[in-house]
Amino acid sequence: MAAGSPKARAAELRALINHHNERYHVLDSPEISDAEFDALVRELRGIEADHPELVTPDTPTLGVGAGPSSLFAEVRHETPMMSLDNAQTEAELWSWAKRLERLVPDLDLTKLEFSCEPKVDGVAISLTYERGRFVQAATRGNGFVGEDVTANVATVKSVPKDVSARGLPDRRKQLPDRFAVRGEIYMPRAEFDALNERQIAAGGKVFANPRNSAAGSLRQKDPEITASRALAFWAYQVVGFEGELVENASRPGQWSPTRQSEALAWLKAAGFPVSPDAHTIAGIEAVAQRCRELEEHRHDLPYEIDGVVVKVDELSLHERLGRTSRAPRWAIAFKFAPEELSTRLIDIEVSIGRTGRATPFARLSPVFVGGSTVQLATLHNEDQVAAKDVRPGDMVLVHKAGDVIPEVVGPVQGHPEAPKRRRPRWRFPIVCPSCAGPLVRLPGESDTYCT
Ligand code: IVH
Repeated sequence: MAAGSPKARAAELRALINHHNERYHVLDSPEISDAEFDALVRELRGIEADHPELVTPDTPTLGVGAGPSSLFAEVRHETPMMSLDNAQTEAELWSWAKRLERLVPDLDLTKLEFSCEPKVDGVAISLTYERGRFVQAATRGNGFVGEDVTANVATVKSVPKDVSARGLPDRRKQLPDRFAVRGEIYMPRAEFDALNERQIAAGGKVFANPRNSAAGSLRQKDPEITASRALAFWAYQVVGFEGELVENASRPGQWSPTRQSEALAWLKAAGFPVSPDAHTIAGIEAVAQRCRELEEHRHDLPYEIDGVVVKVDELSLHERLGRTSRAPRWAIAFKFAPEELSTRLIDIEVSIGRTGRATPFARLSPVFVGGSTVQLATLHNEDQVAAKDVRPGDMVLVHKAGDVIPEVVGPVQGHPEAPKRRRPRWRFPIVCPSCAGPLVRLPGESDTYCT
């Protein structure tokens, strides 16, 4: 390969980008600025655009600029992605534990170890690796068939593109030829707030919560948009295809974890981001305590969680406990209680979406509710505002539970801080706030449009 050729430069850029990704995401000690890093990525994209034959499956820009035909094709999961049963209360957590005891009578619930992991509120994803290289990302879909979002996930910096190049001894020996890593693509809270500010400034869609924005960012037809959204990834499971890394330790010479906590440690050592808030805890009482603690501190985390996933740590017990058609019996999702709080409705504004639809939304005095700071809540359409009769200046009840869009439930008229005299009823504007053209509502329709 001639030095200075596009091929040589592309290889050099890939090595540089991988190196700086590692400095940034694994070692926490970047050597160059974000702008310099972005320049390297842009240069590589340029070469790959001019010389498509030089694109490699592991390129850090994978799929960027690829046509929509390759996006969202169906992917059949070789190992189905199961769902989890929920415990809404501590009593339900206890009855799940008691069920474990009935299924495996020699268990001692006071000593049994559990992996307690924050239930990150994002999008479940399965990443496939072949000979250490990232080759495919698929959404969960119905658990059996998901969507191919490889090109978009390739833009997520914390998703390792080459797990064999991180300098651990005997790494290759420990990697099955093909394996999948499962986890959650999420949007850090700070990025979510910044994104909504940008969206509002541009008159775009306001995202309800970090989960929706992660999902929306992942489902873009244009991976450049995904790349601009600073998504992140937490890994929580590894499944082997050849050699069965997790479920079958029989392959000679192949390391295989015997505990979920070991699998998490392996993922971390292999360069996957693993939540620092995942802990192994002995005894169900201490697990319940940990659930309470995480619920109390959920707002202190830089990412949104809606519960705690509690897993029996010992993998041999997983086989003995088995699964239902929907979910494994060895794990449960302890879900946090939904939250409702009252706050001041500062104003009602109208945003214009890409299709021209005018959506009223509430600008609120910031309030911590349902795990994040809510300053905006949708009011859906004119009829909803009228139905709820919320008026600027009112104290309103804001509801945000788990996955739902923050919503203004209605005015709290008996609130001590409620205005003595309410302002007049809010009226839907007749002039578009972004182009000053007319806003039109067609007869029989609930939505209003800028024409
Ligand atoms: S384990 C069979 N662990 O919660 C194992 N799931 O209904 C199934 N989730 O959408 C998943 N954090 O993506 C597991 N530490 C964690 C998780 C987690 C978030 C999500 C998962 C799925 C939902 C379970």
